[in-house]
This record gives sequence, C-alpha cells and structure tokens, in this order.
Amino acid sequence: MFDEGKNFTVNSNLVLAAVEVTEASALAASLLIGKGDEKMADQKAVDAMRAALNNLDIEGTVVIGEGERDEAPRFYTGEKVGKGGAKIDIALDPLEGTTNTAKYSQNALSVIAFSSESGFLNAPDVYMDKIAVGCSIPKGIIDLDNTVEENLKNLANEKSVEISDMVACILDRPRHAQLIARVRETGTRIALISDGDIAAAIATARPNSGIDIYMGLGGAPEGVLAAAAMRCIGGQVQGRLIFRNDVEKSRAYNCGITDINKKYDMMELSGSEVVFAATGVTDGSILRGVRRYVDSATTHSIVMHSKTGIVRMIETTHNLTRKSLTSQVFI
Ligand code: FBP
Repeated sequence: MFDEGKNFTVNSNLVLAAVEVTEASALAASLLIGKGDEKMADQKAVDAMRAALNNLDIEGTVVIGEGERDEAPRFYTGEKVGKGGAKIDIALDPLEGTTNTAKYSQNALSVIAFSSESGFLNAPDVYMDKIAVGCSIPKGIIDLDNTVEENLKNLANEKSVEISDMVACILDRPRHAQLIARVRETGTRIALISDGDIAAAIATARPNSGIDIYMGLGGAPEGVLAAAAMRCIGGQVQGRLIFRNDVEKSRAYNCGITDINKKYDMMELSGSEVVFAATGVTDGSILRGVRRYVDSATTHSIVMHSKTGIVRMIETTHNLTRKSLTSQVFI
C-alpha cells in the first residue's frame, strides 16, 4: 500500500492513513465526552486507534506509547501494529486530554506521528521540562538553560514586541507556582491551561493563536509528539527529563538513556522525516472537536509532513449509516 519495499516512504496514502487513524480514535472518544469517565474515554480511544492501525499495510512499532505515569490503558512500547509492509516507528497518544474529555473542556486531541525506524527519542513515561516557540524564531533565542527572564526578553526582542504583549502558555499545576510568579514578574501574560500541552506547543507556531511560548513540565511522550509536530510546522522545542524518584530513573535507563540530565533539542526528540496528525476531540485552540448528528459526525484534523512542510487542515464527514463510531468496520 505504501511502498513496494520495506522502507519508510511518505506518500499521500501514508498521510491520509495517519488522519484516518486519529479520526477513528477521536470519534470513539467522543462518545465519552462529558461523561466523567477518563479511563473509559482513554480505553475507547486506544481500542479504536489500535484497530485502525492494525488495518494498515505497515509493519509498525509503537515506540512512544502511554500508560505508566497515570496507569492509563495503554499501547505498550514495542507493540507491533499493522498487517505488514513498510517498517514505521510510531509515537502516539490516542487521547491527549483524558480529563478534558471527561469534563467536556477544551483541547482534547487524538495524536499520532509516523517516522522511520529510530526516528523518535525512546522517551520514558516521566515528566519533561519543555520550552517551545513557533516559526521564524532562530535557534539560540530560547534555551532551557537560560533563565525564564532571559528567554522572555530574548523572544520579545526577536519578535520586536513589548514583553508585556507576549503570552506564555503554562499548565496550571502547583509545581509551576514559581515559574508562573517569575513570568508574571516580567509582565508577560499567561494562558493557564488545565491539560493538553501538545496543542499548547503547536499553538506557538499557528498564526493568530495568541500564544508566543510554551513553558513548563509535562509528559515526556507528549514532548516527543510536540517535537514531531514542530518539525513539520516549523518552530523549536527543547526538553529535559525530570525524575521524581529512582523508579522513574530506572525507566529512563531501561529506554537506553545513559545521561539522564541531557537537554534534548527538537532533532534529538524527533530527528527523521515525520508525518504528524491530530484530530480534535473537544474544541481547542487549533482544532474543532467532534460534532455528532443523527446519521453522521464531523471531525477536524491537522496533518503535516516534515519534508514538505505542508500543513493540511481536514474536515471530514463520517456517514454513520455505513460506519459505526467505534470501529473502522463499514456496515
Ligand atoms: P492525559 O491525556 O494523559 O491526561 O495528559 C494530559 C496532559 O495535560 C498532557 O498534555 C501533559 O503533558 C500531562 O498531562 C501533564 O501531566 P500532569 O497532569 O501529571 O501534570
């Protein structure tokens, strides 16, 4: 389907396949929007994504899954998916924003990225300190090793705006109290989000999102997915793994990471050619959520390719008289 041989080759089939996979998981998760059941929403998304992936002519390996940190239903690292074909490494988050889905709040997404073998950092399920900025910001303007104040000042200078005109997006967590206080001290405004830092990182690179920079600690797998997206759309991400205990450190060692204090740049997080797709589950800063009608549903997705830099926004109408919301099987 994708390639006569066994190599990762990006063509329109693969790009469309990525969207079909995230559409499937977003549609399935949409049944649980506002139902207060995070685990079930995640499970539905995982089941639908797995079924969609297993329908593809690929030899896929899940290298960035989810699970350990919050014991979510999960794709296992190393899990094989697909019917056979080109070898593809897969980073995924079937439901990014389980709480947003359960609470019917904004920015829940279904996300996937395809790359060649060893294309993604094999990141353990721990926290990552991240910083992301959008297109046209040269390397060196922001850096995890700079102070918060330096990063904001440098970015404002580069954008030729007042520091008080900028907006930093930060996850609303007690662990960010000091970061928030320091950002406020500079005069930079803060968009506090309850969840969903992949969308927040991407927003820095989308026109009119109003977000200039994403900062703070979120999931490491989400950091790799954000880097995959930024590789395509343009922008920069840096990340450093953060460990709360020895068990988390051992997860990193098990992933083959020896320097646990290393600062990763975007290419080290997602270095090869990559296709990134996301479908909105609930409305958000970059995508509309699933809309369901009597016999149909609509989804809104973004799909991008690092080599071409093409960013496609896709609205799809799903005919529910021919396909159920929870499976790819046509009735
Ligand atoms: P889930 O979908 O797994 O709930 O993740 C949502 C999220 O907000 C991510 O976007 C973010 O990276 C991570 O959780 C932050 O983790 P925590 O909720 O532990 O602060």
